[in-house]
Amino acid sequence: MTVKLKKQTIEILKQLKKSPAKVLEKDLAKELKIDYIVLMSAVNELIEYDLGAFDEEEIYQISLNDEGLAYLKKGLPERQLLNVLLENNIKEISIDDLSKRSKLKRNIFYVGISNLKKNRWVAQSNASGENKIFLISEEFSETETEQFLQKFEKDNIIDYSSLSNDERYQIDLLNKRKLIERKRQTQRIVYLTEKGKKIAISKIKQLEQISKITPEMLSSGTWKNYELKSFDVSKPGPLLKAGKLHPMIKLINEIREIFLSMGFTEIRGPIIESAFYNFDALYQPQDHPAREMQDTFYLNNPKTAKLPEKDRVQAVKETHENGGASGSHGWGYDWDINIAKKTVLRTHTTATTIRRIADFYRNNEKVPVKVFSIDRVFRNERVDRSHLAEFTQVEGIVIDDNVTLGDLIGLLSEFYRKMGFEKIITRPGFFPYTEPSMEVFAYFDKLGEWLEMGGSGIFRPEVTYPWGIKEPTRVLAWGQGLERIAMLYYDRDDMRDIYINPIKWLRRQSY
Ligand code: PHE
Repeated sequence: MTVKLKKQTIEILKQLKKSPAKVLEKDLAKELKIDYIVLMSAVNELIEYDLGAFDEEEIYQISLNDEGLAYLKKGLPERQLLNVLLENNIKEISIDDLSKRSKLKRNIFYVGISNLKKNRWVAQSNASGENKIFLISEEFSETETEQFLQKFEKDNIIDYSSLSNDERYQIDLLNKRKLIERKRQTQRIVYLTEKGKKIAISKIKQLEQISKITPEMLSSGTWKNYELKSFDVSKPGPLLKAGKLHPMIKLINEIREIFLSMGFTEIRGPIIESAFYNFDALYQPQDHPAREMQDTFYLNNPKTAKLPEKDRVQAVKETHENGGASGSHGWGYDWDINIAKKTVLRTHTTATTIRRIADFYRNNEKVPVKVFSIDRVFRNERVDRSHLAEFTQVEGIVIDDNVTLGDLIGLLSEFYRKMGFEKIITRPGFFPYTEPSMEVFAYFDKLGEWLEMGGSGIFRPEVTYPWGIKEPTRVLAWGQGLERIAMLYYDRDDMRDIYINPIKWLRRQSY
């Protein structure tokens, strides 16, 4: 009859036929470089076919503890003390002096002294009135204990059963000095049965390896005739090409969560905006360069936008012309309502926050109001790796009494900290609608650089007074580009990638 065995089991059988009669299971595993667990299952298979067997044996393993290991390096305390004497050519010394020179801990020092005496290297006397020791030998060769200690140099685990009686005596000494640890272990010794010794390898067939069991194999029971291939759990699984959220959406969701967690509410505004909200309400003079064709996309259809209530338009007009109620002198020019009516693709989401301020006025709301927006803006810019004509801004305002630049910095720090940027700094900046204005920089660890994130500030009275927001109520405002952060987040050096969607990059993104 031929026997069918697993590949691994055949290997082990071959090895056992070559080896001495009995082999330690763990040595066998080492030799064949296989996992101990795999070996155990193979041995079980040998037992199943009555080809092998094992005995169990208790073993004591001895190792040095930390103190023992330290002495293995530096010498036992008595050797260390002796070295102090020899190096300094000292023949007699008071115990106190030696203790100071040796720098050994009190209790270890005394162990050293007692062993110096036991080794008959020194004698101790009080005769002079002082407690002194005297060198009484000239030969200080290694003691048996010191020699034995070196056995641990190669491997700090020694099998007690492998030791001679003299060595066991040394173990007792080290044990009394509390320098060793003992561990008890059961080990298995494998050997072949008579049948195992006799069977010819050529009579043994290898079980066919399979990686799948079919329902037929299960119902017919033939699955037993196969060896199951083991899985390599460290191998990556097959690439799943299922749909997933775009990285940009994930980033937006994350930012949204952060603002929501800070008590903000999300707002959105129209993409097609009036110049009124995009510029005029933000106290940007009508001849401001940012309004010019090269920056702003003006629309032909619809060509004009509806303006808000007449008195508010009038209030904005007056602020531009003479400062109106704001206490400022204004820009001092004739404000033209037709310019304000022009339609644009909004150039910033500050147009959306100013709309929120208008609502605050209309609804006679109470402070505080904390809102944010994450939305698309458009600028007629040349597109390159760090500029897009269509991009996303993360913007927000806080309307509250007596809020200060300190509150704004605190808020921005909190936001960036939640985004994973621990450090931010601000620098004076300029925007026509904020005073003071700040540019915000965040420290990007990976690049070791400060990167400009966006603008912020407190809306000027010229912006807030037309909407009835007056001292001590103020509006903290900030806005920043999102694609900048996205580049850093996703480690892309071309901003366009975010929208061109390189498929390889998208596939690498987590679900
Ligand atoms: N609107 C500014 C921009 O587009 C950012 C900003 C918003 C600055 C709010 C100050 C206050 O860059």
